[in-house]
Amino acid sequence: MHCIRKVTDDIYWVGGNDKRLELFENIHPLPDGVSYNSYVMLDEKTVLFDTADWDIGRLFLSNVEAALDGRALDVLVVNHLEPDHASTLNEIVRRWPDVQIYCTVMAERMMKQYCYETTDNVHAVGEGDKLEIGSRTLTFYTAPMVHWPEVMVTFDDKSGALFSADAFGTFGSLDGALFADEVDLDGGWMAEARRYYGNICGKYGPQVQMLLGKLKSLGDSVKFICPLHGPVWRKNFDVIEEKYDKWSKYEPEVNGVVIVYGSMYGNTEGAAQLLASELVQQGVTDVRMFDVSKTNVSYLISEVFKYSHIALLSVTYNMGLFPPMRAFVEDMQALNISNRKVMIVENGTWAPQASGIMTGILDEMQNMEYVTEKLTIMSSPDEDDSGAIVKAADTLAQSVKEQ
Ligand code: FEO
Repeated sequence: MHCIRKVTDDIYWVGGNDKRLELFENIHPLPDGVSYNSYVMLDEKTVLFDTADWDIGRLFLSNVEAALDGRALDVLVVNHLEPDHASTLNEIVRRWPDVQIYCTVMAERMMKQYCYETTDNVHAVGEGDKLEIGSRTLTFYTAPMVHWPEVMVTFDDKSGALFSADAFGTFGSLDGALFADEVDLDGGWMAEARRYYGNICGKYGPQVQMLLGKLKSLGDSVKFICPLHGPVWRKNFDVIEEKYDKWSKYEPEVNGVVIVYGSMYGNTEGAAQLLASELVQQGVTDVRMFDVSKTNVSYLISEVFKYSHIALLSVTYNMGLFPPMRAFVEDMQALNISNRKVMIVENGTWAPQASGIMTGILDEMQNMEYVTEKLTIMSSPDEDDSGAIVKAADTLAQSVKEQ
């Protein structure tokens, strides 16, 4: 069988969805699966834009053959060589050994590292290089570190399709949809787009800004944005471009507070509950609370890309920082989270250490501002601790309102 959809009259989506995979890159949970997008273009020459993951390999290959409808594959454009898009490359080359492969120099090198059987038909291209394939011209633009160094994107001047590699991608399987206007963006897709961006491209804000600049220079000639994951955009580009602009500048989308707490016996959680309650009573209603032990860090990263203020409350553990909180704060640092207002609360029964370790990591990040005094609780919050949390919540609420 095959399952393909038309992007235009001569461009077909030939990808597939994996609803079984638990963890993307064996790290990030996929409760709603993921799509691996690939596209066939039919002109005087036939072109395939990227391949797909092995997990959907059988359907993908059937889809390519169905779209080609008996024609040979002339050109394979490899925009991104990460194995979720390239692990079926060998199968394409074996079926169509004369296929000409276009990719960056670094992608060509990586093909050898991954031991792909690419024959001698690999052509390295760079910024602005063009390829005539009949009635249209493809132009290649490099997009290093969005999300690997070898990445490029490809623009088709006839259809206006930009094959954008990982950029503008999303977790989640397509479930029959193809276009972004066929999915409920506010009903979860945008949240998954944010989680995808934050964890996959989030570290590389300046490089994403460079790609946005190239997209802007193409102006109204862009009619479709075709990413390697998630829906294709054919209208309302400003919706996703504005999100990408904010995310890649590390600017918050929402004035509000994300509270992340690490608690062993509920005492630190109680302090977090008191903080949240006071914030809401002070008029800050956009407050989210997360137990760091129960929430996969990819979701926490997504939240800190969204919110202006971050409250971290953590127990001390083995004379150090509670391990899941350490993992979260270190991941924030690794992904270059910047420009956030922060509140810190530590807990410890005999030697509180959490605050110093958290601030030690946060101090290495860009423009992270502490808006309250760092608070210390010794075991269970007493009346004095509660009073201090209420007072700090008032200061935090004021900061949110002034954001
Ligand atoms: Fe979807 Fe960076 O690969």
